[in-house]
Amino acid sequence: MTDDNVGLTGADVDWDASAASFDDEPDHGLRDPEVRRAWAARLSSWLPARASDVLDLGCGTGSLSLLAAEQGHRVTGVDASPAMVERARAKLAGRDAVFLVGDAAAPPVGEQRFDVVLVRHVLWALPDPGRALRHWRGLLRPGGRLVLVEGVWGTTHPVGIAADTLTALLAPLTGRIRVERLSEETALWGKEVPDERYAVVAVVE
Ligand SMILES: C[S@@+](CC[C@H](N)C(=O)[O-])C[C@H]1O[C@@H](n2cnc3c(N)ncnc32)[C@H](O)[C@@H]1O
Repeated sequence: MTDDNVGLTGADVDWDASAASFDDEPDHGLRDPEVRRAWAARLSSWLPARASDVLDLGCGTGSLSLLAAEQGHRVTGVDASPAMVERARAKLAGRDAVFLVGDAAAPPVGEQRFDVVLVRHVLWALPDPGRALRHWRGLLRPGGRLVLVEGVWGTTHPVGIAADTLTALLAPLTGRIRVERLSEETALWGKEVPDERYAVVAVVE
């Protein structure tokens, strides 16, 4: 997102058209070793220490999926954009990972259950975030966790979901909720950012 987000919603973005250049942003492609290391360290602290089943919703080109797989986790990725899924499949070829085209709000995973639902920069784009969170909670095994990385992009015409809004939606659904403020962590973004960036880790008791 930029600062010129007047009236933008997630539905306005043509994600298929964005796929080819998506990884050009430092925090998307994680091509800079320092940025990659910063995300790998954070992800490792958010995910369970043991090998786990991770559902990466709105997985995009699979950058976080790849970090999770490198850390020993089994990954299922879902994205509505076939072009994004194609790139994710290529990025994780040969890994313990499966990618599906589908709606993040109601992912096509049948009866399968997961230890982690991982979602970065997607919840803000969904038409009913509260409903999606309730559905995601039902996809977790007991003791599982939601790892949600979100923000509010831009300062003039901001879009996104604020941490306070997200934690209020989560409060009736989960047990422990941890919020990590990420705006000051320039290593994650490859630059200084003026807006709100954060991660929420919410464990289902
Ligand atoms: C900003 S990108 C984030 C990609 C990835 N999570 C990451 O952090 O690199 C948003 C992604 O969400 C996907 N997306 C948006 N709405 C979706 C929906 N309703 N269901 C599934 N994917 C969706 C887009 O296709 C895009 O790949």
